[in-house]
Amino acid sequence: MKLFAGLCAKIFSGFVFLLGLSQAKSRFADICGRPLVEPTLWPKYIGNAAPLRQKRFISNGNDASDGSFPYFARVIPIPGDIYGCGAGIISDQWVITADHCVDENSTRFVYTGIHEWNKHTEQMLVSEKLVFHPNVSRSSWKAEWDVALVKLNGTIVFNDYVKPICLSRDTSFLTKDYPVMLPGLGYDADKKIPSVTQEALLYFAELIDHKVEAANIEQGNAREGDSGSPMYSKHNGLWYQVAVFAGGGQASAAGTSISAVCDWINDVTGEELCT
Ligand SMILES: *[C@@H]1O[C@H](CO)[C@@H](O)[C@H](O)[C@H]1NC(C)=O
Ligand SMILES: *[C@@H]1O[C@H](CO)[C@@H](O)[C@H](O)[C@H]1NC(C)=O
Ligand SMILES: *[C@@H]1O[C@H](CO)[C@@H](O)[C@H](O)[C@H]1NC(C)=O
Repeated sequence: MKLFAGLCAKIFSGFVFLLGLSQAKSRFADICGRPLVEPTLWPKYIGNAAPLRQKRFISNGNDASDGSFPYFARVIPIPGDIYGCGAGIISDQWVITADHCVDENSTRFVYTGIHEWNKHTEQMLVSEKLVFHPNVSRSSWKAEWDVALVKLNGTIVFNDYVKPICLSRDTSFLTKDYPVMLPGLGYDADKKIPSVTQEALLYFAELIDHKVEAANIEQGNAREGDSGSPMYSKHNGLWYQVAVFAGGGQASAAGTSISAVCDWINDVTGEELCT
C-alpha cells in the first residue's frame, strides 16, 4: 500500500512536472512554521485582513510562551553556557545565524528546544561545518550580509517544541507596519541573561536591498546576545523566517533578508528549503 502510494505520488509529480506546473516544495513544507501555541504578542487578525497594529509595550521583552517559537535555537561557544547567539532551525541538519556569531575553525554548540534554559527539552548538537555568506563585509559593522549557515553533526529530532521554520522568497506580504517577531535570550536591561526565552514585537519598516529594517514603536528591543536571532512573521496561517537579526538601535532592528539569501541557502544545503 505504501509502495503503491509512493508510486502514485511519483507518477503524479512526474505528470505535474511534464505539465510544467511543478513548484519546488520543501521537504519540511508539511511541518514548518506551525507553533504549538501562537506567540503572546502577535497581534490579532480581523477576518483575513492584515493583523491590527497593536500598541504593546515591550520593555526588555516579554516571556515567550513555551512552544511558541519551536524554530528558535542558540549557537553557543562553550557548551552549557547560556551566552551566545540566536539562530533559526531551517532543516533537521542546518541552522542559520549571523556571520559575526561564528568564527572560522571554531566549534559551536547548537541548542534547540530551549524555552527555559537548562530545564527540560533541550537537544544539543555540534557544528560540523560553518558556511559564511560570500558577500559578508567584516571590515565594518553595517549588517551587510551578516549571515552564516551551520551544519550540525547529527539530526535534530522534531517534536512539538522543536520544528523547522518555513522559508520563502516572497516578501510581498511585508508591507509597512506588518508585525515581525523576534525571540531571543540576549541581555536584559540589567545586562543579565533571562532564563526564559523573550519575545519582542516589531513592525516592518522597509526592505533595502538585502536588509530588512523593522522598528518598535515603544522602547525595548534586541540586545547583545540576540544577534543571529530569527525575525519571524506570519502569513496565510504559516510562520516564516523573514530575516536574520544582525543588530539594532534603541528601538529598531535590522537583519539580512531571507529572500535575498534564498538561492544561497538552497545551494549550500543542497535542497529546496527556500521556495
Ligand atoms: C583556519 O584554519 C586554516 C587552516 O589551518 C588557517 O589557514 C586559517 O588562517 C584559520 N583561520 C582563522 C580565522 O584562524
Ligand atoms: C552578492 O551581492 C551582489 C550585489 O548585491 C548580488 O548580485 C549577488 O547575488 C550576491 N551574492 C550572493 C551569493 O547572494
Ligand atoms: C555530536 O558531537 C557531540 C560532541 O562531540 C557528541 O556528544 C554527539 O554524540 C555528536 N552527535 C552525533 C549524532 O554524532
